[in-house]
Amino acid sequence: MAEIVGAYFTSHVPAIGGAIHRGDQQEPYWKPFFDGFPRVHEWLAEVKPDVAVVFNNDHGLNFFLDKLPTFAVGAADRYDNADEGWGLPLYKSFAGHAALSWHIIEQLVHDEFDVTTCQKMTVDHALSIPFELAWPGVEEWPVRIVPIAINTVQHPLPSAKRCLALGRSVHRALAGWQGDERIVVIGTGGLSHQLDGARAGFMNPDYDRFCLDNLSRDPDALTAHSIHDIVRLSGTQGVEILNWIAARGALGPGAHEIHRNYHIPISNTAAATLLLEPA
Ligand code: DHB
Ligand code: FE
Repeated sequence: MAEIVGAYFTSHVPAIGGAIHRGDQQEPYWKPFFDGFPRVHEWLAEVKPDVAVVFNNDHGLNFFLDKLPTFAVGAADRYDNADEGWGLPLYKSFAGHAALSWHIIEQLVHDEFDVTTCQKMTVDHALSIPFELAWPGVEEWPVRIVPIAINTVQHPLPSAKRCLALGRSVHRALAGWQGDERIVVIGTGGLSHQLDGARAGFMNPDYDRFCLDNLSRDPDALTAHSIHDIVRLSGTQGVEILNWIAARGALGPGAHEIHRNYHIPISNTAAATLLLEPA
């Protein structure tokens, strides 16, 4: 039987890619963020996942404002990385797991989620940066991926409650999958940040702590806030917490925290890294 080994969450600020490229991990600005990763590397070496189900958001690469699915599931055997404009180096392409993607899609549609299925999909910094942080410098990514993109960009956005339910539906799919894969669930983005408008630079450590504390023990607590509450509490791009909430749902009913790191700021973002294991 397949096993869900745990969940890995991290921010996906594009500037991290530049820091990795320059080898700046030990520079004073970057060190407190990169110091969160030796534990992640150790954990991944322990749990040895071979598949990753990745909840992230597209930043205008596949989907622009003219066509923006609320939930889009990749169903390809290969996903190339592309840069939607940050000037980042391109990362290795990602092997997909189309059979598992279709199994997840079947479950989601059965559970009345009207998802967009993408047999062609590129992935942007929301996926490549967390991978380069998790497996720095590897020749081939050690996991095949199922990418799931949540609209965190153009309102109306799906509610936190809906995203947690989406994740729980993915969990049912994984629990019913007959393969013998070792699956890690990944949520990327956040935490609080706002890149534009009058509150550009806004961050909120209190709300971030509330999220980090409750992701393991009571993820439903995060669904008490409406999208407009979350924008107010976390910033216009802080709504990327939706990716984390969905990933938490996919992990399963109980979870315990094994590692966290939190540092303000990385670029305009309150940067966080979290590892959870099933309870
Ligand atoms: C930044 C953060 C993001 O999540 C993103 O997608 C782009 C930029 C930032 O803080 O610079
Ligand atoms: Fe982002």
